[in-house]
Amino acid sequence: MKKLLITTPIYYVNDKPHLGHAYTTLMADILTRFYKKQNRDVFFLTGTDEHGTKVFEAAKKQNKEPQEFCDQNSKLFKDLWKNLNIEYTYFIRTTDKRHEKGVEKFLTKLKENNAVYEKEYKGLYCTGCEKFLTKKELINGLCPDHKKEPKEISEKNYFFKLTNYLDQIKKIIETDALKIQPQRAKKETLGLLRQGLEDFSISRQKVKWGIPLPFDKKQTIYVWTEALLNYITAIGYGDDPDQFKKWWTESEKIHLLAKDILKFHDIYWPAMLLAAEEVIPNKEFVHGFFTVNNEKMSKTLGNVIDPNNIVKEFGVDSARYLLLSQFPSDQDGDIKEEQFKEKYNTDLANGLGNLVSRVINLADKNNIKKEKPEKEIEEKTKEAKEKYANLMENFKLYESIEETWKLIKFCDSYTDKTKPWEIKEKEKQTKILSNLLYLISEIAELIQPFMPQTAEEIKKQLKENKAKPLFPRI
Ligand code: MSP
Repeated sequence: MKKLLITTPIYYVNDKPHLGHAYTTLMADILTRFYKKQNRDVFFLTGTDEHGTKVFEAAKKQNKEPQEFCDQNSKLFKDLWKNLNIEYTYFIRTTDKRHEKGVEKFLTKLKENNAVYEKEYKGLYCTGCEKFLTKKELINGLCPDHKKEPKEISEKNYFFKLTNYLDQIKKIIETDALKIQPQRAKKETLGLLRQGLEDFSISRQKVKWGIPLPFDKKQTIYVWTEALLNYITAIGYGDDPDQFKKWWTESEKIHLLAKDILKFHDIYWPAMLLAAEEVIPNKEFVHGFFTVNNEKMSKTLGNVIDPNNIVKEFGVDSARYLLLSQFPSDQDGDIKEEQFKEKYNTDLANGLGNLVSRVINLADKNNIKKEKPEKEIEEKTKEAKEKYANLMENFKLYESIEETWKLIKFCDSYTDKTKPWEIKEKEKQTKILSNLLYLISEIAELIQPFMPQTAEEIKKQLKENKAKPLFPRI
């Protein structure tokens, strides 16, 4: 089985992490745990994007040196991942020396391969997006995402010959050589390619906070060009050829992201790799974008939910569950904060928690040791497990949770129907409770990637035949 690289976007450090960042990173963590359970060798990469105007200006506002500001905010991401029990393999920072070295090598290679040229450029630049916008994209003269007027910039830049690779990219996407999921994202990418795209500039003359262009040190490498390269510099490009070969050239590569940065990942990134004669990623999953209480998350609206607070209120595994069980990952959705408590009580306290303690208490009270389950029960579980695995492999984490909860509900109704506490014949009672104990141990396996600590606790309680409340009602 091939090795597997799973990545998240690297997040801007201009502000502290929010629910959106937590969602993608949690998804990557869950997939990593899922594949590790199947004995795959997985490298889970995440990190922070620290250069560019946006970060520089945010540092200035706080009267901080950019590096000091990046150190402080990058740590907030690391702290949050720790709180959410995210087990990444490596955390890359684009201010790392190793990243710089890899980026320089890659840009030199692009130049050698004739994929770069110089041009005088004039355009409207939005620092919020860290990209140039066309007049057509503006709404009432403002950036549609950041509601700010872009700045007119005129300077000499180096350009990447994107147009040379567009036909190839189209083929790669149509044939699923780079498989973009869900289908909607693939269509959107093909739509962008049909509209036609232009070469893009890969350097800036006036931006100082960045990596100098190796063949013209007066220029700074465009933050997006450099950020995309994190996916390879983190695993040894330009520094450790063996590591790079192992985790990029010869592995299966999956990028997770949301639709806000689709063009960069689906088109620019594979084109850059083709130009440098490197292999392209295998899959990209583009999850939905969500709002909070029907509003775009923004500081001014005051609706930025700090994921650390959800952990504080509900505990780490519950926070992981609550985040992922909101809506299907391939759709946009709205997070309603007041629903967290209700969902916690329904699904976790009254659902999973109640089932586990009910069954283990019954087994304990009647002194029943687990025996082999009945064939029917084994079959039912096998079917659920297969469906679950298929859903996980297609990034349908919400639906995998649903599949697991169907099994929990089945256990509830099976217990209510068979009433094992009323049964006098020991053999019959043992059979029923063995079925239930087996189902619970399988449920623990299914929830393990989502709620690793709870899964361990259930296994422990099953082994000791002693129930302890998993999710106190709140
Ligand atoms: N630094 C770039 C990415 C470079 S990757 C080579 C960037 N950073 S970001 O901090 O803005 O993060 C964007 C990503 O955060 C999204 O693609 C998504 O993964 C996650 N999300 C941020 N807000 C989100 C929502 N409101 N909803 C869902 N995911 C969101 O872009």
